[in-house]
Amino acid sequence: MQYERLVQWAREIWQQRWPDQPYITIWASAECSNMIAQQQIRAGRKLRGRAHYKGLEPLECPAIVPISDYGSRGKKMVLTATSGAYAFKFVMDGEPFEVIYASSYFDDDVQDLTAIALVPADKLDTWAAFEFICARAVRPRIRRRRDVYIIGGTDAFFDPNVEWDDVILPEELKNDLLDDVEAFFHEGVQIYRQLKLAPFRKLLLAGVPGTGKTMLCAAMAKRAIAKGRIVVYVSGADRDGASFEKIQRAFQAVTAARYPVLLIVEELDAYLQGDDKARVLNVLDGVESPNNPEGSLLLATTNYPEAIDERIVKRPGRLDRIFIIPTIQDRIQAEKMLRHYMADQWRPEHVAVVNRLIDQPGAFVREVALHARMLAAHSRRTEVALDMLEESVEGLLRQMNAERDFLTTRRPLGLAATNRRSRRFED
Ligand SMILES: Nc1ncnc2c1ncn2[C@@H]1O[C@H](COP(=O)(O)OP(=O)(O)O)[C@@H](O)[C@H]1O
Ligand SMILES: [Mg+2]
Repeated sequence: MQYERLVQWAREIWQQRWPDQPYITIWASAECSNMIAQQQIRAGRKLRGRAHYKGLEPLECPAIVPISDYGSRGKKMVLTATSGAYAFKFVMDGEPFEVIYASSYFDDDVQDLTAIALVPADKLDTWAAFEFICARAVRPRIRRRRDVYIIGGTDAFFDPNVEWDDVILPEELKNDLLDDVEAFFHEGVQIYRQLKLAPFRKLLLAGVPGTGKTMLCAAMAKRAIAKGRIVVYVSGADRDGASFEKIQRAFQAVTAARYPVLLIVEELDAYLQGDDKARVLNVLDGVESPNNPEGSLLLATTNYPEAIDERIVKRPGRLDRIFIIPTIQDRIQAEKMLRHYMADQWRPEHVAVVNRLIDQPGAFVREVALHARMLAAHSRRTEVALDMLEESVEGLLRQMNAERDFLTTRRPLGLAATNRRSRRFED
């Protein structure tokens, strides 16, 4: 067993360095060998209980293959999780001591670092404090931008600057959503509190990709900010993926906010895939939900509602309401969308393509309009002729069909098993 080799190696090192010092062998936290933690935590750092960290010495352990993960922090690529062996040095009341530490991958299938450490028998408190600050250094960062906290997604693009009127969806649906949110913040919070419940309401926006869910969240965020609420935005779209850790960080921000909070969690389905599922369910059940006395409203989105299984949808209280965000339903909606994206280049004859836009998401119409307008500009024309618009519709439809065929024929090769995106809402 790999961990036995690590412990054996560490014991030999211990014998050479501290032959008279009793130690305990523990499962340690893999964050201590994370390069982000090692960069951030400098020698001299004070730890709880009169101890200081004095730096580290890398050790050669023949049982460990050194290898690193990497990811972006701000604009730079940096090394992150790393396997390796170290002597971490500390001093307490003038007495130096060390922790011999080794972290390694254990098998080919699970890319999980596991770490062991030999700690002086009476220094477990210091080591625990050190592990704690390492874990904190590595956690996805919260970036605060005026009234918006963004969790994860170092490069995530979330701009709470969308106008409510720019979201083209059935008015009834938009009003319904807005009424729900306002009713919660105005009356709901009091009622929850009277009932001694944490004021936490949970809404889900579900629909195929490109129907405007993210846009709706951004427009909601803009309104929330205007009303003095705080927005917490959680993105699963970075290297850390959809980890429960992010939800926990979000909840810390929510609980500490001291203002009403709009909590946006994109692609909720992704959090329900792995081991974290039980914990996410606990959150939805209220067992682990944040208690912000000013009220917090969760606005979650999903492109794959079938991944949000019956346990959530059918059980009362887990999600308070699901809003289906539809594709374009009729000619009126289609024309409105097309006019919006053609802007001042709209011409009445463009109405001829409107029928072909029904059942498509808004993102499709935007692409069609952009493409047609670029074609026109490229041939130095100020007007977008109808045939250009038609060509643009045809071209995009062809491209989408080709993609679909490609994915379908590839499926037997095993793409379907690994590619979440092949389990499309619409098929
Ligand atoms: N209902 C809509 N009204 C206006 N524009 C839309 C709409 N739906 C999609 N779009 C356009 O398509 C882009 C992608 O939509 P997005 O909100 O990211 O979709 P989703 O989050 O549902 O996948 C938007 O930025 C916008 O330009
Ligand atoms: Mg989206």
